[in-house]
Amino acid sequence: MAAAVSAAWAKVEALAASPGAAAIRPLFAADPDRFARFHHKGGGLLLDISKTSVSDTVLAALLDLARAADVAGSRDAMARGEAVNSTERRAALHIALRGDLPGAGGEAHREAAEVLARMEAFTTAIHRGEIRGATNQRFDTVLNIGIGGSDLGPVMVGRALWRAGDPMRPIHLGNVDGHGWETVLPQLDARRTLVLVASKTFTTQETMANAHLVKRWMEASVGPNGAASHFAALSTNLKATAEFGIGEDRVFPFRDWVGGRFSLWSAIGLSLALSLGWDRFAALLAGARAMDRHFLDAPLESNLPVLLALVEAWHVNGLDLHRRAVLPYDERLRRLPAHLQQLEMESLGKGVTVDGAPVPRATGPVVFGEPGTNAQHSFMQLVHQGPRHVPVDFILVACPDHTHADNHNILLANGLAQAEALLMGRDADAVRAEMEAAGVAEAEITRLLPHRVFGGDRPSNTILMPRMDEAALGALIALYEHKVFVLGALWGINPFDQWGVELGKVMATPIVRELETGEVGAHDASTAGLLTELLRLRGG
Ligand code: F6P
Repeated sequence: MAAAVSAAWAKVEALAASPGAAAIRPLFAADPDRFARFHHKGGGLLLDISKTSVSDTVLAALLDLARAADVAGSRDAMARGEAVNSTERRAALHIALRGDLPGAGGEAHREAAEVLARMEAFTTAIHRGEIRGATNQRFDTVLNIGIGGSDLGPVMVGRALWRAGDPMRPIHLGNVDGHGWETVLPQLDARRTLVLVASKTFTTQETMANAHLVKRWMEASVGPNGAASHFAALSTNLKATAEFGIGEDRVFPFRDWVGGRFSLWSAIGLSLALSLGWDRFAALLAGARAMDRHFLDAPLESNLPVLLALVEAWHVNGLDLHRRAVLPYDERLRRLPAHLQQLEMESLGKGVTVDGAPVPRATGPVVFGEPGTNAQHSFMQLVHQGPRHVPVDFILVACPDHTHADNHNILLANGLAQAEALLMGRDADAVRAEMEAAGVAEAEITRLLPHRVFGGDRPSNTILMPRMDEAALGALIALYEHKVFVLGALWGINPFDQWGVELGKVMATPIVRELETGEVGAHDASTAGLLTELLRLRGG
């Protein structure tokens, strides 16, 4: 298999090295049906990859690569519950949280369904006021304490779907920075606040520091005996949740086969169920399930996650483009880029293959983004005219949930226009003609021409959502999750571990002590110097 994969990569790389490989406009000129042939639908979403330089020949080579790398076999192994997270010897069964699967996946689904049933019962009891706080008041606010995968997913979905009048107000405390807590605190009435400590490991330094801080506040507010009734835990570590003082009936567990950045569908989503209502949380899961079915069943040629991954491989490894921007044209999706940053960069930022050998080519690109149209007024200048191309994912929503049609038309028009401008550019003749028509003097035209030319042939994908509702959002997130998995298979890396975040965590512990005691230990000269200066500035 390794030889076949190398040969398939060599073919892709040879095509990328051929003259004009990055050109897109000639593909449209040669094929009036390009949009029809290069867009596909699945899980309720539409993906258009026509505005990339992926031609029929390139796509065929990329699909050969997917076959050589046995993407379909790896996908099925994941769904069967095999230990695809090889370094941690674990399955990766987030799809079992959303529906039944064959083999071990089915067992995992039944287990997950039991926890979901408990979450539903808890949610209903809170909403009905059957479970109340220490002062017998109904809970109206849910405070989720967590970081990374135990925060970003729920925050992103909460921002996207929560509306005033929904069952509970969601508040999120992620960063250990005390200013985060200071911002959140005035929004809280302890008597009405249910606190969820969301941590897969229940050992994460930042989350535990915040959890203890909030526990002290709760004890001071409702009394040491009553505080426990305001807490629940979302975790795999039942020993640590007990030590923290959260009783078993208030712990919503999940298994180690749920990766942090894939966990919003598990107990980690409880803040969503509480704030949105159970039916809407279930609809989110059903949307993801629709994308799972598509990923598991659709042929590679029309499989959205596979195509999205192949386009990325073409950009990263073929065309040497190591950044990607994500622009959701929907203000409610403003935290989607942050969620995708973790999902994609924590999963794909790897330098060795599953066998421990150096990866022979580049892996995950830098992902960044902002909602449109705001992004147009910040980083899009670089995307339009910077010397290195930056592929973009545009996410457009057909029908808004407001009645301001004019605004929505402007929003959509801008999204479409950005993609079109990146593709078509504006050549020197067109710029000159426009300036001449405006009566600009020849010397001024000559001076400004290079600044006003747009090269074009800059790639983008477009994802269309009919509405930004629970089902479509679930499908969108699952689309990116599966895309990450496919890229892991193509690159031969493990997308489910994150050893790279460990070292900094370990090294922070002694530095905390040094900051407490004022005694600087052994460090490189820069770190020692900065520590000394920080202590001096703090008067320590
Ligand atoms: O940032 C590293 C990481 O391990 C993420 O993968 C995870 O989502 C996050 O920390 C939080 O971990 P936990 O849920 O165990 O607190």
